[in-house]
Amino acid sequence: MALLEVKNLTVFYPSSPSPALEGVSFQLKRGEILCIVGESGSGKSTLLRAIAGLLHPDCRIEGEITFKGEKIPPQRGLEKFMGKEVGFIFQEPSAYLDPLFKVGGQIEETCKIHFPDSNCGEKTLNSLRYCGFPNPEEVYEKYPHELSGGQKQRVNIADAVVNNPSLLLADEPTSSLDVSTQKSVLELFLKLKRDGKAVLMVTHDFGVVWEIADRVLVIKDGKKVEEGSVFEIYENPRHPYTRKLVEIFKKLSLF
Ligand SMILES: Nc1ncnc2c1ncn2[C@@H]1O[C@H](COP(=O)(O)OP(=O)(O)O)[C@@H](O)[C@H]1O
Ligand SMILES: [Mg+2]
Repeated sequence: MALLEVKNLTVFYPSSPSPALEGVSFQLKRGEILCIVGESGSGKSTLLRAIAGLLHPDCRIEGEITFKGEKIPPQRGLEKFMGKEVGFIFQEPSAYLDPLFKVGGQIEETCKIHFPDSNCGEKTLNSLRYCGFPNPEEVYEKYPHELSGGQKQRVNIADAVVNNPSLLLADEPTSSLDVSTQKSVLELFLKLKRDGKAVLMVTHDFGVVWEIADRVLVIKDGKKVEEGSVFEIYENPRHPYTRKLVEIFKKLSLF
């Protein structure tokens, strides 16, 4: 059984009569990384936000979302699972961290909201360690501005995984990072995958896809135009748009 199944997802923003996303369907299994690629404005963030239940309530959302076998009203997306069963990672690492509080306390709070009786201090340190901080006690005490972009993004991931979710939704999580930092964050996603988590990641960077995806879903103008294993898409892209993406990537990787 798929962990997440999305059928015919369609989203209308209140300001427009035509849908920003139209009839998108796919499945995601445990331990799998599915990358959503497409050019700017194609509907990638809309898709991810609709699934997370992060769109404005005035948006009209149609279709079916099933998570762990439970059918969810599409208008709310996975809202009731967020922070617990599902973690969300944003593009801009500072966006989600409160500059006024130490990062450790912020992660601990995510734990306390959902599991008030558990040892959230210990879980926070474990999560930071898991996310690549060998000195979690020190990082716990830092304010966001004391960390680099890559460190902040790993703190965000530590926050997203502190409650051991089965699904991670990530919207361009490495786009704002420099190349060497990107690599350590992508490696962290691969570790999460090896530990059985499913990842749905939006990116416009085929290099990221090539590095971490199992499968790829290509969207253009709000519609799915292609879906396949990363190998299939790389070796035999069928849609002209995918062909163009892959050609650009192949050219870039020659250098
Ligand atoms: N809050 C919004 N209100 C109205 N239209 C929006 C809003 N957010 C995005 N859109 C429109 O929806 C389409 C898809 O946007 P988006 O999902 O952000 O694309 P991507 O993430 O692929 O760049 C675009 O045409 C964009 O202008
Ligand atoms: Mg976007």
